Parts: sequence; structure tokens; C-alpha cells
Amino acid sequence: GKLPRPRMVVRSSAVSVAPILTHLQKQCATPLPVLRHVADAMAADMRAGLAVDGGSDLKMILSYVDTFPTGNEKGLFYALDLGGTNFRVLRVQLGGKDERVIATEFEQVTIPQELMFGTSEELFDFIACGLANFAKKEGGKFHLPSGRKREIGFTFSFPVKQTSIDSGILMKWTKGFAVSGTAGRDVVACLNEAMERQGLDMQVSALVNDTVGTLAGARYWDDDVMVAVILGTGTNACYVERTDVIPKLQGQMSSSGRTIISTEWGAFSNGLPLTEFDRDMDAASINPGEQIFEKTISGMYLGEIVRRVLLKMAEAGALFGEYVSERLSTPFILRTPDICAMHQDNSDHLDAVGAILYDVAGVKSDLSVRKTVVEVCDTIVKRGGRLAGAGIVGILQKMEEDSKDLIFGKRTVVAMDGGLYENYPQYRRYLKEAVTELLGLEMSKNVVIEHSKDGSGIGAALLAASNSKY
Ligand code: GLC
Repeated sequence: GKLPRPRMVVRSSAVSVAPILTHLQKQCATPLPVLRHVADAMAADMRAGLAVDGGSDLKMILSYVDTFPTGNEKGLFYALDLGGTNFRVLRVQLGGKDERVIATEFEQVTIPQELMFGTSEELFDFIACGLANFAKKEGGKFHLPSGRKREIGFTFSFPVKQTSIDSGILMKWTKGFAVSGTAGRDVVACLNEAMERQGLDMQVSALVNDTVGTLAGARYWDDDVMVAVILGTGTNACYVERTDVIPKLQGQMSSSGRTIISTEWGAFSNGLPLTEFDRDMDAASINPGEQIFEKTISGMYLGEIVRRVLLKMAEAGALFGEYVSERLSTPFILRTPDICAMHQDNSDHLDAVGAILYDVAGVKSDLSVRKTVVEVCDTIVKRGGRLAGAGIVGILQKMEEDSKDLIFGKRTVVAMDGGLYENYPQYRRYLKEAVTELLGLEMSKNVVIEHSKDGSGIGAALLAASNSKY
């Protein structure tokens, strides 16, 4: 299409790009003391959130999941996954101890932008409709015993105050969703009403956060999994906690003595190294003042932070010449996959960087400009990855402080998932480096950070199976 008219740069001769970059790197630095502070504050905030509801930034949500899949689960189960960029449906045929997962099938669609700003009915109708179409195609290896309803594990990845394993109230939307009429409502009831409108007779047996689904899915294969982290559009972590160290349970112990807690760590904000770019992005967001950790480390925001830095460099330092393109001034035009692609460019002239800058932001660049752009990406991604690593260590620390089964003394697995973690090698590397720096080489050997691909869907289906109504 036709490009809007570019604006002239108001150029102050004293300012150039180099000092802006140096200042950015200084502000975003995460040396060991900063990481340590974040890990300690995370542990302290977790504790405060476990003491009473509303006791800290971290909601520390009780998942009502207090037993883990055993491997004996059998039968046909469905999973629904709503939480970020995509909506997924999945079915799995479980075969019990020996056969485990006999077959899986899934479909995925991108959530249309307008649904993120529409009404609750529109969103849930879309979900129910997708599920109905998918259920129609069941066949082959999938088989439902007669007299049984199809049961669903519903992964709904927003802060939900669970009222039981199969019900929960949406506290607020995150990650750019602003659907009217859902906050304060039971999301399973919303889904049931939409399924009824579709004439679809299925039953939600488990409502779970994506982190909880990931933990359950990973734990199905490996008993040492204690923590699960999502780093995708948004971010969150959950972990296995002892019920006797959760004061807000007021003595209600689970039979296993354990339960999964979803921290909602995206809301963490204590002691983060933030910049003017973070503050401006937050102020312009639909949830100002909220989800600050998420806005600093997760996929929805990293590209946007980089864009804001580049815009300042263009305006104050003429990074892309005399003019600032309108496109570079457009919020969220530069996405995290774009900065990831630029960051992977090893060519002599950084041709991919040049192409992306031109295609996405409408700017021309020479080699030195491209190098600066990659430096900016690296600075923002390094801060994000390292802070995420500090968050993980904070959780392990909290577990260690309260546990009698010594987290650090034995193998402990942290199951990771989400597009950012999966697709961004530098982010992954920075995260792991921070964990090792904080724990020390010896201790970090016991902590296994491992990708659990699409575990959340299977995990939700497994939890539907272990909480089956039949
Ligand atoms: C957001 C949601 C949280 C979810 C996370 C990852 O932070 O509030 O519930 O787990 O994104 O998808």
C-alpha cells in the first residue's frame, strides 16, 4: 500500500545514537546482584501471596490439582487451549500404563484480532464452534465407550480464581485481551452456554492454566518435574507446593499433601531494571501498571520495546537518516519473531536485518545501522532472558526454604514451553546462563531446564481423565 508521509527528524546536534545505546545497555544491565535481588524478591512475594489472598503482587492461585497423572489414565479425552495468539483443540486416546498415548490429533487457528476486543459471547461462540467442527471429524483410532460424554480439559491461560477443579472466575484479562463481559464470570459456565448454543454435548472435567497443563503433561513422563514455566505471548510459572506451608488454605490439606500453585508471576514488579521505554509502553497499554514482569520478559512485548528504542534513536539520533518513517511510529509493528529473525542473521552485511527493517519499518539501513539494531535486540532480549532465569531461581529458592525434601539436593526438572522459549535461541541461552550464575555450577547441575513441547494440551486432557466424572 501507499506509505504515509514521513516526518522530518528534529535533530539536536548534541545527541547521536551511540550514547542512547550505551545508556540503554546500562539501564538494562542485569549483573549478579540485580538477579539475586529479583530471585529473593520473587521468593518473598510468593510467600506473601500464599499467606492471604491479595497479600502480594503474585496471586499464587490454588489450582485444585493435587494429584498427578499416574499413567493409568485410559480413554478418549479432549483439550481446549485458549491463551495467547492461537486457539487449539486436541483429542487424545490414552491407553493406560503400557500403551500410554495411543493417538493424538490437533487443530490450531489464530485468534482473530476483533475477537480480542469483542464480547464474551462472540469469543466463546468462536471456541465452541471450533470445538464442534473438530469433534465432528473424530474417527480412526479414537473411540468413546458407549454411555459416556466426551470430556474436556480446558486450558484457559489468564488469571482465574479457581473455585474447584472444573470451575473458576476470570479475575482480569491479560496479554492484550479486552473482551467485555467475562471478568467476574465462571469461564466454564461461559463455555457451557456457548456449547449449548452450538448443540454440542461435551463436559468440562478440568479447568487449568497453561502452566498447570504443562506441569501435568511433563510429569506424566517424568516424576522429577516440579516447576513449569510458559514464555510465550505472556508468561507465568507454576510449581508443586506442600499444602502445610500454604497459610491461606487454613488447614485444608490435600490427600497427597501437595498441590500445584499457579504464581501468576507476570504481575511481579519488584526491583526490575526498567527504562523510559518500558514505562511509556506500559502507560500506553490497555492494562497500565499491571503485568510489569510480563511486559519486560515475554513475547508480546519484546519487539515493541525494541521498536520504541529504535524510534527514539531515529528521532533523536537520526538512526535512519533525516526522516522517521510513520511505520516505525506504529505500536506493535515490530514483533518478537522479527527481532528474533534479525538476531539470527550471521551474514557479512546483515542482509536479513536490512530486509526486515525495510519490510516491517519501511526504513533503509547500512551495515553500521544494522549492527546497532542487532545490539538493541540483544540488550532487550538479554535482560528478558536473564530476568526469567532469576524468576525460576526465586521459585526454586522458595521451595528449598520450605521443603523437607531438598530441591537442590536431587534432580529437579523445570518444564518450559511457549513460542518465545521454543523459538528464540539467544533468549534460552541467556535464561540458562542466569540460572547457572545464580545457583553456581555445582548446584545448577541438578536443575534440569527442559523444553516440554505442547505438553499443556496433553496435560489438560490427562487432568480431565484423572478428574473424570465417570
Ligand atoms: C498471562 C496469563 C497467565 C498465563 C500466561 C502464559 O500471564 O495471565 O495466566 O499463564 O500469560 O500464557
